[in-house]
Amino acid sequence: MTVLSVANHIEQMLRPYAEAVNTATETVLSDQASAGVPATLIEAMRYASLNGGKRLRPALVMLSAEAVADSNSWPVDPIPAAVAVELVHCYSLVHDDLPAMDDDTLRRGKPTCHVQFGEAMAILTGDALLTRAFEVISRDVADPYISVRLICELAAAAGPEGMIAGQVADMGLCEVPQGAAGRKYIHLRKTAALLRGAVRMGGICAGADEQTLDALGRFGVNIGLAFQIADDLLDAVGSARTIGKTPGKDARSGKRTYAGELGADRTRRLVAELTAQANSILETFGQRAEKLRELTDLLARRDR
Ligand code: IPE
Ligand code: IPE
Ligand code: MG
Ligand code: MG
Ligand code: MG
Repeated sequence: MTVLSVANHIEQMLRPYAEAVNTATETVLSDQASAGVPATLIEAMRYASLNGGKRLRPALVMLSAEAVADSNSWPVDPIPAAVAVELVHCYSLVHDDLPAMDDDTLRRGKPTCHVQFGEAMAILTGDALLTRAFEVISRDVADPYISVRLICELAAAAGPEGMIAGQVADMGLCEVPQGAAGRKYIHLRKTAALLRGAVRMGGICAGADEQTLDALGRFGVNIGLAFQIADDLLDAVGSARTIGKTPGKDARSGKRTYAGELGADRTRRLVAELTAQANSILETFGQRAEKLRELTDLLARRDR
């Protein structure tokens, strides 16, 4: 029997979802030349969004829909929502790496978008991916009411009370309390908000009621926090070869991270606690949430 590394196991598990989302993203980004989109912008948008990546957020959209109901009873196909969430994530990475932000040169094992295409083009590429995401949902989700709910969910997750608040705080551009409250404020917003949005969007596509969406949201917060804490840990202990990013950046940039403030052991325990909480929320979903549970466990042990 082949023993898979955690990263390979995650990749294998997410492959069907990643392939479906990659194909749909290809379609979304393919016919842009005839619409007058500049070739360099198309190239940069493709570079930033079809360049690997775990595709975790779109997989969460799909897995969460599966946890709610059988696919033949879903009111809408979750693929457009999944593509949109990943486009927003890819935009956030392009902007996160900019010289004025984290000033990173390596992403997904390749030069970052601004290194490859220049800073102005990277800013505009992020803008283009973000706006395209909302176009995809508004155009491709068959039910207009569900489409508006998805747009609202994604905008709230990625916007000024969600990811952008977290990025502002992460960059030290606002007052953040010392200690646990401040750490949580940043991690909840810069990363957990979009993961929470992704699982809730999957639920909305599958016709979940408010109580179910609430449970999915709480699950999303727990895995979202665990995911960013694990990312900080990997920044501290990982290598460029495995994480595809420059390690040690958080400490050098004076970022407020759990690993930096609590040390690796306490941080690992916290990831385990958040993972257990996330899985306990999934209990009410029974067998349907089996894959989501398996993914949650794997993410806690991820090495890239
Ligand atoms: C990186 O996210 C940024 C964080 C919010 C921690 P991922 O680790 O999901 O990055 P990709 O999409 O796999 O490259
Ligand atoms: C990412 O946090 C949060 C985003 C909104 C992109 P990091 O700055 O820690 O992500 P990486 O380590 O660059 O992927
Ligand atoms: Mg950052
Ligand atoms: Mg960064
Ligand atoms: Mg990081």
